[in-house]
Amino acid sequence: MAAILAPVAWRDGHLEIIDQTRLPGELVFIRLETKEEVWQAIKELKVRGAPAIGIAAAFGLYLAVKDFPAQDKEELCTQLKKAAEYLASSRPTAVNLFWALKRVQEKVSGAEGLTVRELKELVLQEALSIQQEDESMCREIGRYGAELLKEVDAILTHCNAGTLATARYGTALAPVYYLAERGKIMHVFVDETRPLLQGARLTAWELKQAGIPVTLITDSMAAVVMSKGWVQAVVVGADRIAANGDVANKIGTYSLAILAREHDLPFYVAAPSSTFDLSLATGEEIPIEERDPQEVTHFGLRPVAPEGISVFNPAFDVTPHRYITAIITEKGILRPPYRESIRQMFFK
Ligand code: MRU
Repeated sequence: MAAILAPVAWRDGHLEIIDQTRLPGELVFIRLETKEEVWQAIKELKVRGAPAIGIAAAFGLYLAVKDFPAQDKEELCTQLKKAAEYLASSRPTAVNLFWALKRVQEKVSGAEGLTVRELKELVLQEALSIQQEDESMCREIGRYGAELLKEVDAILTHCNAGTLATARYGTALAPVYYLAERGKIMHVFVDETRPLLQGARLTAWELKQAGIPVTLITDSMAAVVMSKGWVQAVVVGADRIAANGDVANKIGTYSLAILAREHDLPFYVAAPSSTFDLSLATGEEIPIEERDPQEVTHFGLRPVAPEGISVFNPAFDVTPHRYITAIITEKGILRPPYRESIRQMFFK
């Protein structure tokens, strides 16, 4: 299997990302040197996917403070807080963003006896740890997911929950890569994922790069593919999981879950612990991002709808936990009842 590129990398004082808006046409790496550039890259989906935006934001915090002339820890913490609030305003749904920003700030505020210079270095080290841990978590998700999928020949996935959305390996695609490395090649059906086509542009691209057989379909073809028996499971990622197991993920995920139930297919969600938000009792409380109507009224720059038409463009939906067969995490496989299994995972 071909090596998979990392979408976010720290290089000599700047952040380097793959500009995902240019894929699959061009593989372009861009430099981000300020928190404003990181904010813009997250907002415009140059870097996207729940874990990857958390990682990028953590490095954004370092970029925000590295040259700031703070006199003491208090001043540095104030600056970090301001920068975190700013970076948090880029996108509302994926909790990994807020989780990573909080984690870096807590690391600094909890550190004793360090100079401002050392504290700044701590910010960088924490961002690097978040990135490394995400890679390990995805690896473990791959290992656990492989147990569930080892007898499966083909899956259906939605959006991009692959390497491009994480430090490496992805969440939904991690079991595919894990099994492929061990000689078991699965076939992956990929929804194009209207309106921004993360499935067609990104998942199809990264699987093809890795030598995994892919069949691209439009979102509306999923029922036919299931009814023909061409897939034996649906595997998706998550942007935020509430305490009861309700899952926010890319718009269209909920419809797939209903279709999977109708066709007696297991519906798996793969996500690291950083995607759980135990402060929310149910998925109804998850803030859902609404995006520019132009993403729906246009194909690229070309208009495909009457000018001025009313549009509803939520970027995510919430799949009720009752449709979810299992949640694959780095700590193991969670089964219903999720309120209990999630609590056990975090507090046992
Ligand atoms: O709008 P995007 O492209 O950031 O949405 C991404 C998704 O919905 C992914 O499925 C999710 O973040 C999981 S990524 C491992």
